[in-house]
Amino acid sequence: MPAPAAAELAEYAARRAALIKAMGPDGLAIIPSAREVIRNRDSHYRFRQDSDFLYLSGFQEPDSVLVLAPGNQDGEFLMFVRARDAAREIWDGRRAGPEGAVSQYGADQAFVIDELDKQLQGLLSGRRRVFYTFGEHPEWDPKIAAVVREIREVSRRGAAAPTDFVALETTLHEQRLIKTEAELKLIRHACQVTAGAHVRAMQATQPGGWEWAVAAEIHHEFERHDMQCGYGSIVGGGENACILHYKENESQLNNGDLLLIDAGGEYRGYTADITRTFPINGRYSGAQKEVYEVVLAAQLAAIATLTAGNASSRPHEVATKALTEGMVALGLLEGDVDTLIAEGKHRQFYMHGTGHWLGLDVHDVGRYKLDGVARNFEPGMVMTVEPGLYIAPGTEGVDPRFHGIGIRIEDDVLVTGGAPEVLTSGVPKAVAEVEALMAGR
Ligand code: GLY
Ligand code: MN
Ligand code: MN
Repeated sequence: MPAPAAAELAEYAARRAALIKAMGPDGLAIIPSAREVIRNRDSHYRFRQDSDFLYLSGFQEPDSVLVLAPGNQDGEFLMFVRARDAAREIWDGRRAGPEGAVSQYGADQAFVIDELDKQLQGLLSGRRRVFYTFGEHPEWDPKIAAVVREIREVSRRGAAAPTDFVALETTLHEQRLIKTEAELKLIRHACQVTAGAHVRAMQATQPGGWEWAVAAEIHHEFERHDMQCGYGSIVGGGENACILHYKENESQLNNGDLLLIDAGGEYRGYTADITRTFPINGRYSGAQKEVYEVVLAAQLAAIATLTAGNASSRPHEVATKALTEGMVALGLLEGDVDTLIAEGKHRQFYMHGTGHWLGLDVHDVGRYKLDGVARNFEPGMVMTVEPGLYIAPGTEGVDPRFHGIGIRIEDDVLVTGGAPEVLTSGVPKAVAEVEALMAGR
């Protein structure tokens, strides 16, 4: 990824300034980058930067640490990065080095990563609250703990040691929950390309084809737009759709079955998250259509609740109610809808939540409850809406024509000052629209 342009640098600087303000003058943030992970022997998985680190810096290298030190005379934004190394760069690629961290990424000061060990004591001394998430960075936890212990020793003679270690969820993650215009631009792009990838998958699907081949159509569409998968793609034909995290993508596609695809492309760190469920031969059967219409109605009703001021628990309540009414209408369950929900009976066919925050992480950061109560929607939040019904093969007491049907419909929705904005409307979901698209294959 190229170094940030001037406008992007200003965006990162504004994000850091907001975090510094939230931390207060006696806070210090220590945010390590991701590390490279071995796939097998000496091959690595493709590097993916830590989302907090990326959000604050745009810096795409491993083995780095970002420090925000409010009021520090030598600069508030410090970076500790890999040293330039001509030999390693020939093998593994370019490095910015400390000079690049300053000139290209706007650090006030930058050092090679080994320097951090030496500087930690000075950085932590006199700071009351340290914004560092213990337990997530095994290489830094013991070092930071040891330095704090040393400062406590010295503090008997004056220097104050930190008293609070604060996880990032009440500051940085609250900030990440409300997307800026710059972020929304990237998210819209990810959603648009992902919608096109789902359209392409529908057009490429044929009885006798293979789940992996359809996945390849999706991935081709991501990669030709400089994107990767934001999470492992789920391409499940027939009863594979009833396995919520099906990832083998290994089965042949049968005439008469549905195909569920849950796939999202990631652009500059921001992922989309779309699910569609469509007929492999292009026409929904009667039973498939009956179940599909229930899920679609639930999804549309849930989407309508994503307005500023509504409780963020509303989509799930509304979807659960609509789905459970549908379960009764289809004969999957019997009884009073509210009682069935209160007793959790609907979970046999709808066992997951209706949505999650979306952004740099597919299950993005941001609290769902404040003081134990569901928070309200605010403009700039992005949430998925993804109800489904899953009728496992051989389910007793259920009409066999429904057996093995698994359907989920998922869109990504922006909360605005007005009506909810569906960012993923570029891929059809109404029965007639899906069938029309597939008829044109
Ligand atoms: N693709 C993951 C999810 O829908 O939550
Ligand atoms: Mn999904
Ligand atoms: Mn999702």
